[in-house]
Amino acid sequence: MTPVRRRVAVLHGVNLDQLGRRPKAVYGDLNFDALERQIGAFATELDLDPRFFQTNDEGEFVGHLHRLDGMVDAIIINPGAWTHYAWAIHDALEIAALPSVEVHLSDVMAREEWRRVSVVRDLCVATISGRGVDGYRDALIRIKQELT
Ligand code: DQA
Repeated sequence: MTPVRRRVAVLHGVNLDQLGRRPKAVYGDLNFDALERQIGAFATELDLDPRFFQTNDEGEFVGHLHRLDGMVDAIIINPGAWTHYAWAIHDALEIAALPSVEVHLSDVMAREEWRRVSVVRDLCVATISGRGVDGYRDALIRIKQELT
């Protein structure tokens, strides 16, 4: 029998831990703990098992991606500003070789020009941007389709 695949790494990069102190007009008024609690509740509804990780250190983020093999079945990734220039994160996500969805709370395409580049987009089955916390529910639904 095939084991059920339901473990999802939810990876938050640089400055996401500071939600609540960032512009509310852009990021909403949830703080980071509330964001992760809400994602946890979405995952429970969908019978998925989220494994959260956040760091402000790019090397730690890359190292974490290296260690995911065999630990989770899929990835939801919001690298924060690293999204737009950190090619080492692209390469580490490629090494992880798991179905991945990119999420941004804000609508990165409607903001500054430099935010339109994403180094992870080509490795992800979907990119969800500008839906706030609900974007994580969309991402979990997409991951569930990928794992079923
Ligand atoms: C973000 C968008 C990035 O451009 C920004 O640097 C962030 C958060 C988002 O979730 O909207 O830190 O990834």
